[in-house]
Amino acid sequence: MRSKIVAGNWKMNKNGAETEALLAELSAKLPDTTAEVMVAPTFVNLVGAVRSLESSTIEVIAQNMHYAENGAFTGEISADMLLNVGVDTVLIGHSERRAYFGETDAILAKKVVAALAKNMRIIFCFGEELEDRKSDNHFNVVASQLKNALFSLEASTWKNIVLAYEPVWAIGTGETASPEQAQEMHAFIRKTITESFDATIANNVSILYGGSVKPNNAVEIFSKPDVDGGLIGGAALVADDFVAIIKAI
Ligand code: G3P
Repeated sequence: MRSKIVAGNWKMNKNGAETEALLAELSAKLPDTTAEVMVAPTFVNLVGAVRSLESSTIEVIAQNMHYAENGAFTGEISADMLLNVGVDTVLIGHSERRAYFGETDAILAKKVVAALAKNMRIIFCFGEELEDRKSDNHFNVVASQLKNALFSLEASTWKNIVLAYEPVWAIGTGETASPEQAQEMHAFIRKTITESFDATIANNVSILYGGSVKPNNAVEIFSKPDVDGGLIGGAALVADDFVAIIKAI
């Protein structure tokens, strides 16, 4: 049975005090849920966040990592550094990393391998651009992103993989994919995994939707059979909104 997950990607937001305040509010307002709830503060706030949530069910995750063990990679963070502060789940391949920091499928494949080699859990992000969808090429783009980063992996590693489909045109725009669009792509993703691996792996992998998920659309999006939760940006920075989205799953 695959997990239901609601993860908040805080991106480059919240200083130490703001992080502590938001986590305290989330902890106090967290509803009873069978879903896994995760938050991804910035690197500098991970240690404090882990400490703040040590008696909470909310999991602290990282927004990124480098594929090298260590070395001359100014500004980067390794898997071991994350594990050392109590973080064992990491976002890989967010569209902003691809767009602004030149993270190609080949680089992301290295990050995937490096994280899985440390038995970390990854939330692999992918999704098409608006022009891909307008030209009806979105299925090819998504299939290519998945295959280039994940399809050389051993079947046994898929227990540590969560997928996050984030159509780039829906991120931060308020232009949410319709529940039907999300379901259609998630079903396609499961079919693609079935063809390359098997139905067991495909049916057990959690596929999250990300891209302008809000309290007023979460229930309908999460109601779709192949949508297993959400990767939330802006709404994760407001406790009441994030709690409302958790209640929606
Ligand atoms: O990683 C989640 C993020 O990209 C979605 O952002 O603000 O559209 O919920 P937002």
